[in-house]
Formats: sequence, C-alpha cells, structure tokens
Amino acid sequence: MPLNGEGGERSELRLALSKGRIFDDTLPLLAHAGIYPLDDIDKSRKLILDTNLPEVKLVIIRATDVPTYVEYGAADLGVAGKDVLLEHGGEGLYEPLDLQIARCRLMVAGRKGDKTTPLNGGRLKIATKFVNSTRHYYASRRQQVEIIKLYGSMELAPLVGLADRIVDLVESGNTLKANGLEPLEHIMDISARLVVNKASMKMKHQKIRPLIARIAEAVALKQEQQR
Ligand code: PRP
Repeated sequence: MPLNGEGGERSELRLALSKGRIFDDTLPLLAHAGIYPLDDIDKSRKLILDTNLPEVKLVIIRATDVPTYVEYGAADLGVAGKDVLLEHGGEGLYEPLDLQIARCRLMVAGRKGDKTTPLNGGRLKIATKFVNSTRHYYASRRQQVEIIKLYGSMELAPLVGLADRIVDLVESGNTLKANGLEPLEHIMDISARLVVNKASMKMKHQKIRPLIARIAEAVALKQEQQR
C-alpha cells in the first residue's frame, strides 16, 4: 500500500527503534504494554521484526533516521534521543512522552586546564555533530563561535588542533577523561522520547493512545522503583 506520507493508511502499527541502548531500554516498556519481539535482535539481521501482536512491527534503523521515518509516516511511532530530535527539528512529530531512558548530558568540553579565550573578537572553534543545539546555545549567550560539523569521535578535535572545544554527549565522563578533556559547560539533560506521526495519531488513535498510556505507566513504575 502506498504511504504518501500518511502512516494512518496502514492498519499495521510500526515502531522505529535504533539498535543498542535505546532498543534494550525500550523493550521492558513495551513488555509492560504486552508487546514482545519474536526475533532475537542480536542474532537476526532483519530490519522489520515481528512481535507477538501481528499488527505491531518493530523497524530497526539508525538513531538519527528515526525522526525522518516517523515524520514521513513510514513508521507510526519511534523512540529517539532528545539530542537527535533537536537536530531534526521535530516537524510532523508529536512528542508525547519522556521515556527517561538513555539519559546523559549535552556538554561543552575542552582540553584539561585549557583557558583559551578568543582574542580581539576572535571566535572559539567548536567541533560537534549537534550543530543546531550548539548554534542555539551560543546564540542564547550572545557568543559568536565558529561551528565545525563532525560525524563522530569529536573528542579528537581539540587534541589535534581542529577545534578549541567540543559539544558532545557525556554519560559517565570516561571518554572525555581518557582523552585528557574535561566538561566545561552543561547545555542540557538528554533522554529518549517517544515520538508519533501526526497523521497516525489522528487515524490510529484507538490503538496508539492506549499504547502510550501503558508505556507511560511503565515509565512511572520504573521511576518509583528507582526512588
Ligand atoms: C557517546 C558520546 C561520547 C560518549 C560519552 O558516544 O559521543 O563519545 O558516548 O559517554 P561517556 O561519558 O560514558 O564516556 P557513543 O558511544 O554514543 O557513540 P557515537 O560516537 O556514535 O555518538
């Protein structure tokens, strides 16, 4: 059936997830909603996984592609980090739930003890893959910087003179430490969010609303247990 950007045309419910931490941490939340994958993600190379509910499929894609699949209705729902959503822009998406998983911080970091400040109106060079968030952060501080777009291993940039600072995700801080870097400024807390295609939300609300409610319940239960 053609999608034409309308996830609502399919009766099947597709949930987009990325492999790794988001997949692993989303599974218990789905289990609470009575959804279990039938395939073992570690053994299977399938990109569409069946679940115990024939009308629910799990679509396995790169984390940065999740908002795009959901925006165009190729998936009805998805789980994506707030970092990824801020870079995507969030068009065509509802973000009904903070899943409180894959939690970390978006931070500015630099070489340990480095006090580099821009001289004579010069600009700090900031290497990052989070260009939108970085631009927004420095604009809000009225600080002019030069942003250098990278796709990974940002920690290397200050070590080889490509940039003065990086903006990256920090969880334990071990990657920074191992590379002689230190966190300097906290930009925001990050966690994974449930996102929903706007057309799907309208057309399939009878399936999607109870699913969101069950997942929300699972998140709340987990939070209580951790307290
Ligand atoms: C993230 C981030 C850091 C690291 C931070 O990378 O970009 O490199 O984790 O974690 P830590 O503070 O616990 O050391 P990730 O492993 O997600 O891979 P990526 O390079 O694809 O972003």
